[in-house]
Amino acid sequence: MTKISIEKADPSDALRISVLLKTAYIQAYAYDGISFEYANFVTNRFSVEYIEKSIQKKSSLFLVAFNEGNIVGVAEIIYNSLCPIRKTNVVELSKLYVHQTFIGKGIGKALMNAIESELRSMGKAHINLEVYIKNQEAIAFYEKQGFTIIGSVDCVMEENSYEDLIMNKVLT
Ligand SMILES: CC(C)(COP(=O)(O)OP(=O)(O)OC[C@H]1O[C@@H](n2cnc3c(N)ncnc32)[C@H](O)[C@@H]1OP(=O)(O)O)[C@@H](O)C(=O)NCCC(=O)NCCS
Repeated sequence: MTKISIEKADPSDALRISVLLKTAYIQAYAYDGISFEYANFVTNRFSVEYIEKSIQKKSSLFLVAFNEGNIVGVAEIIYNSLCPIRKTNVVELSKLYVHQTFIGKGIGKALMNAIESELRSMGKAHINLEVYIKNQEAIAFYEKQGFTIIGSVDCVMEENSYEDLIMNKVLT
């Protein structure tokens, strides 16, 4: 594995996180090309200002993976999110993205391990996530990390809706 360090994000990381999220999201989902709804989504939700604010929020945790000083992966959890299936509050893994040339080098797993040890130290028992049903690579990765599918929801964007699987892991 490449020598990677995992650190809590600093607001000064927001520019590079923004670029990583925009490119990784488009590579993962825009296989039919760049639609207006995807372009608007990444421009708004992954803007430098939005990321900077998210890093500073106490209600979430942003982790970054560094390789030789450069950002190669990012993860965000939201501590109190409503599980759409169980209707209870749960920690949600809201983002997990690895820069394309670093996929398959253990960075996603290292970010997951760091998140899980943080959550265990806080006494949290579960973590949820939502993943697009057609993102088979990510689903296979999450199953390997011990997540199971507990249901699905429709994620509505501007014009289209996309079926997302809800996955859960019990933190033993
Ligand atoms: C999904 C993603 C985060 C996984 O991160 P990664 O760094 O590539 O995964 P790792 O190298 O840490 O793999 C960890 C383990 O999962 C396995 N794994 C990874 N991808 C897999 C796949 N597509 N199918 C089966 N197993 C997979 C690896 O073989 C490895 O197994 P091991 O522990 O036995 O060695 C990464 O591929 C990614 O960023 N994809 C694009 C963005 C995306 O879809 N994010 C999820 C949005 S919900």
